[in-house]
Amino acid sequence: MAEDLNVIQGTKEEQYESLLPQIKGLVSDEVDLIANLANVSAALKQQFNWFWVGFYLVKNEELVVGPFQGPIACTRIQKGRGVCGRSWELKKTLIVDDVNAFSGHIACNSLSQSEIVIPVIRDKKVVMVLDVDSEHLASFDQVDQKYLTQITELLPL
Ligand code: SME
Repeated sequence: MAEDLNVIQGTKEEQYESLLPQIKGLVSDEVDLIANLANVSAALKQQFNWFWVGFYLVKNEELVVGPFQGPIACTRIQKGRGVCGRSWELKKTLIVDDVNAFSGHIACNSLSQSEIVIPVIRDKKVVMVLDVDSEHLASFDQVDQKYLTQITELLPL
Protein backbone atom coordinates (compact mmCIF):
# COMPACT_ATOMS: atom_id res chain seq x y z
CA MET A 1 0.00 0.00 0.00
CA ALA A 2 1.42 3.36 -0.95
CA GLU A 3 -1.18 5.26 -2.87
CA ASP A 4 -1.71 9.01 -2.83
CA LEU A 5 -3.82 10.29 0.00
CA ASN A 6 -7.06 11.85 -1.20
CA VAL A 7 -7.13 15.23 0.55
CA ILE A 8 -10.52 16.94 0.43
CA GLN A 9 -12.09 20.32 1.20
CA GLY A 10 -15.15 20.40 3.43
CA THR A 11 -16.39 20.58 6.99
CA LYS A 12 -14.29 19.07 9.71
CA GLU A 13 -16.64 16.07 9.84
CA GLU A 14 -16.39 15.58 6.08
CA GLN A 15 -12.61 15.72 6.25
CA TYR A 16 -12.49 13.10 8.99
CA GLU A 17 -15.06 10.91 7.23
CA SER A 18 -12.90 10.98 4.11
CA LEU A 19 -9.72 10.27 6.04
CA LEU A 20 -10.95 7.42 8.27
CA PRO A 21 -11.29 4.69 5.62
CA GLN A 22 -8.01 5.77 4.07
CA ILE A 23 -6.21 5.45 7.39
CA LYS A 24 -7.91 2.12 7.94
CA GLY A 25 -6.52 0.97 4.60
CA LEU A 26 -3.07 2.31 5.45
CA VAL A 27 -2.70 0.52 8.76
CA SER A 28 -4.71 -2.66 8.28
CA ASP A 29 -2.11 -4.44 6.14
CA GLU A 30 0.89 -3.39 8.18
CA VAL A 31 1.94 -4.72 11.58
CA ASP A 32 4.95 -2.49 12.18
CA LEU A 33 3.98 0.07 14.81
CA ILE A 34 6.44 2.81 13.84
CA ALA A 35 5.46 2.53 10.17
CA ASN A 36 1.81 2.92 11.07
CA LEU A 37 2.34 5.84 13.45
CA ALA A 38 4.47 7.59 10.82
CA ASN A 39 1.85 7.21 8.12
CA VAL A 40 -1.03 8.21 10.41
CA SER A 41 0.88 11.37 11.42
CA ALA A 42 1.55 12.17 7.78
CA ALA A 43 -2.05 11.54 6.72
CA LEU A 44 -3.39 13.82 9.48
CA LYS A 45 -0.86 16.52 8.58
CA GLN A 46 -1.73 16.30 4.88
CA GLN A 47 -5.48 16.59 5.46
CA PHE A 48 -5.55 19.20 8.23
CA ASN A 49 -2.16 20.91 7.95
CA TRP A 50 -1.92 21.24 11.72
CA PHE A 51 1.18 22.82 13.20
CA TRP A 52 2.32 19.60 14.89
CA VAL A 53 0.81 16.14 14.97
CA GLY A 54 2.36 12.99 16.29
CA PHE A 55 2.79 10.40 18.98
CA TYR A 56 4.56 10.17 22.31
CA LEU A 57 5.22 6.57 23.37
CA VAL A 58 5.29 5.34 26.97
CA LYS A 59 8.77 3.90 27.55
CA ASN A 60 10.14 3.12 31.01
CA GLU A 61 7.55 5.32 32.70
CA GLU A 62 8.28 8.34 30.50
CA LEU A 63 6.76 9.66 27.30
CA VAL A 64 9.30 9.62 24.48
CA VAL A 65 8.61 11.37 21.21
CA GLY A 66 7.71 9.02 18.36
CA PRO A 67 6.73 9.56 14.73
CA PHE A 68 5.42 13.06 14.09
CA GLN A 69 5.02 15.81 11.50
CA GLY A 70 6.02 19.35 12.34
CA PRO A 71 8.88 21.21 13.99
CA ILE A 72 11.27 19.42 16.33
CA ALA A 73 9.69 18.70 19.70
CA CYS A 74 10.57 17.93 23.31
CA THR A 75 12.05 14.44 23.46
CA ARG A 76 10.92 13.23 26.86
CA ILE A 77 7.95 14.16 29.07
CA GLN A 78 7.42 12.98 32.65
CA LYS A 79 4.10 11.57 33.84
CA GLY A 80 1.79 14.38 34.93
CA ARG A 81 3.81 17.07 33.17
CA GLY A 82 2.39 19.22 30.40
CA VAL A 83 -0.79 18.41 28.55
CA CYS A 84 0.60 15.09 27.30
CA GLY A 85 1.78 13.94 30.73
CA ARG A 86 -1.52 14.97 32.31
CA SER A 87 -3.52 13.10 29.69
CA TRP A 88 -1.40 10.01 30.35
CA GLU A 89 -1.85 10.35 34.14
CA LEU A 90 -5.61 10.96 33.95
CA LYS A 91 -6.17 8.46 31.11
CA LYS A 92 -8.39 11.14 29.56
CA THR A 93 -8.47 13.23 26.44
CA LEU A 94 -7.54 16.84 27.15
CA ILE A 95 -8.62 19.72 24.95
CA VAL A 96 -6.81 22.97 25.70
CA ASP A 97 -8.18 26.09 23.98
CA ASP A 98 -5.28 28.29 25.08
CA VAL A 99 -2.09 26.52 26.04
CA ASN A 100 -0.74 29.67 27.69
CA ALA A 101 -3.54 29.39 30.25
CA PHE A 102 -2.81 25.71 31.00
CA SER A 103 -0.71 25.47 34.11
CA GLY A 104 2.32 23.31 33.36
CA HIS A 105 2.00 23.37 29.60
CA ILE A 106 5.30 22.43 27.97
CA ALA A 107 6.05 24.93 25.23
CA CYS A 108 8.03 22.90 22.73
CA ASN A 109 7.33 25.72 20.30
CA SER A 110 6.02 29.19 21.16
CA LEU A 111 3.80 29.25 18.06
CA SER A 112 1.54 26.54 19.44
CA GLN A 113 -1.71 28.05 20.80
CA SER A 114 -4.14 25.18 21.34
CA GLU A 115 -3.84 21.45 21.71
CA ILE A 116 -5.66 18.14 21.96
CA VAL A 117 -4.12 15.01 23.48
CA ILE A 118 -5.75 11.58 23.14
CA PRO A 119 -4.44 8.73 25.31
CA VAL A 120 -4.17 5.38 23.55
CA ILE A 121 -5.21 2.72 26.05
CA ARG A 122 -4.68 -1.02 25.73
CA ASP A 123 -5.41 -3.48 28.57
CA LYS A 124 -6.27 -0.50 30.77
CA LYS A 125 -2.79 1.00 30.34
CA VAL A 126 -1.84 4.08 28.39
CA VAL A 127 0.70 2.93 25.81
CA MET A 128 1.07 6.23 23.93
CA VAL A 129 -0.65 9.55 23.36
CA LEU A 130 -1.65 11.26 20.14
CA ASP A 131 -0.81 14.97 20.40
CA VAL A 132 -2.05 17.65 18.00
CA ASP A 133 -1.02 21.31 18.22
CA SER A 134 -2.44 24.32 16.40
CA GLU A 135 -1.09 27.84 15.86
CA HIS A 136 -4.64 29.11 16.43
CA LEU A 137 -6.60 29.36 19.67
CA ALA A 138 -9.44 26.88 20.34
CA SER A 139 -8.87 24.74 17.25
CA PHE A 140 -10.13 21.49 18.75
CA ASP A 141 -13.50 20.27 20.01
CA GLN A 142 -15.59 17.15 20.58
CA VAL A 143 -15.61 16.40 16.86
CA ASP A 144 -11.82 16.11 16.86
CA GLN A 145 -11.97 14.03 20.03
CA LYS A 146 -14.48 11.62 18.47
CA TYR A 147 -12.63 11.08 15.22
CA LEU A 148 -9.09 11.14 16.57
CA THR A 149 -10.12 8.53 19.14
CA GLN A 150 -11.52 6.38 16.33
CA ILE A 151 -8.25 6.76 14.45
CA THR A 152 -6.22 5.63 17.47
CA GLU A 153 -8.56 2.63 17.80
CA LEU A 154 -7.64 1.56 14.27
CA LEU A 155 -3.98 1.15 15.20
CA PRO A 156 -2.99 -2.53 15.36
CA LEU A 157 -0.90 -2.51 18.54
N1 SME B 1 2.82 20.90 24.53
C1 SME B 1 2.93 19.53 24.92
C2 SME B 1 4.30 18.99 24.69
C3 SME B 1 4.46 18.32 23.39
S1 SME B 1 4.61 19.37 22.10
O1 SME B 1 3.59 20.37 22.04
C4 SME B 1 4.83 18.61 20.66
C5 SME B 1 2.54 19.35 26.37
O2 SME B 1 2.34 20.33 27.10
O3 SME B 1 2.44 18.20 26.78
